[in-house]
Amino acid sequence: MNLETDYLGLTLAHPIIASASPLSRDLDGIRRLEDAGAAAVVMPSIYEEEIEAEDEAFEVLVERGSWTQPEAAGGYFPDVTAFRLGGLMARIETLQRAAEACAIPIIASLNGSTPEGWTGFARDLEAAGAAAIELNLYRVPTDPRENAAEVERRSVETVQAVAEAVSIPVSVKLGPWLSSPGNHANNIVGAGARGLVLFNRFYQPDIDLATLSPKPSLELSTPYEIRQALLWIALLAGRIDASLAATGGVSTAEEVVKYLLAGADAVMTASSLLRHGPDHIAVLRRGLMEWMDSRGFDDIARWRGLMAADQLSDREALVRTQYIHVLTGYRGSSDRTGN
Ligand SMILES: Cc1cc2nc3c(=O)[nH]c(=O)nc-3n(C[C@H](O)[C@H](O)[C@H](O)COP(=O)(O)O)c2cc1C
Repeated sequence: MNLETDYLGLTLAHPIIASASPLSRDLDGIRRLEDAGAAAVVMPSIYEEEIEAEDEAFEVLVERGSWTQPEAAGGYFPDVTAFRLGGLMARIETLQRAAEACAIPIIASLNGSTPEGWTGFARDLEAAGAAAIELNLYRVPTDPRENAAEVERRSVETVQAVAEAVSIPVSVKLGPWLSSPGNHANNIVGAGARGLVLFNRFYQPDIDLATLSPKPSLELSTPYEIRQALLWIALLAGRIDASLAATGGVSTAEEVVKYLLAGADAVMTASSLLRHGPDHIAVLRRGLMEWMDSRGFDDIARWRGLMAADQLSDREALVRTQYIHVLTGYRGSSDRTGN
């Protein structure tokens, strides 16, 4: 049975990727994910703020050095991108060792939202052996005066800055709240992204009624959450010049199959592995093969994208018709089918 898929120009043995999570934080964790059968591993994000903090700390060091050693200003200290302090150095070393030790692609993740200053760090990740960079554009525009075009322009410029810094493929993990996700996706691809990861999961804080303070909360996902990414993968598959990876809500092989039917090139999972352990990858893979077997498919290429919307001439009407049908056809709680 052939499960091979192409993601960002990388040939994967099958489409199931371990998404960024604490499971891939260190070399042992990454090895475990590879042993459990992950087709690729995404490491946890390195944040723009971390990079800037280290750059600032470095500048302070240089200033102190140049005060006592005049030659420092004339290139005595190495270039800032070649000089990393403790935290980031350890992360780069983990990436380097994982890239050397593992046969599967190790994808590094950067999380940022501004095009200035920090994006050159992508070069350090490439030099350390990252097979690709996943750029997580996590930003909540809190200023009501900032308009959507401005927010999107900064995202596109950020993608461009990272993509121009490296020759390995860059994928972009996008948030779902956009007026026109397809158009923004197109602009992101135009800026140099080779793939999109749909969608970023935002963690909205709760309110702690005892302390009257914001309460951070992180719940693992449920299969219900696949719907938004499923729709947008179906709408974009075959219509955008980029790989598509699905993230969010994978619990069983059913969600993997649905995402692939919608047209995803790869399917990522974090919550299911945090819940059941890395060996759950084998359960998902086996379930995928069993489903293919039950349908008489021997090659993923024969059915991936079968439910993508690119065959339909009037997609907007379809989405709207279904919306109206679902709302007007509601007959009470017996309509709730779950997932
Ligand atoms: C504990 C935890 C840590 C995560 N860390 C990262 C991260 O560093 N970078 C990132 O892009 N996504 C991160 N994610 C998001 C996941 O990669 C994934 O996109 C999200 O959880 C939705 O997928 P899931 O339903 O399979 O969990 C994290 C998720 C969890 C639960």
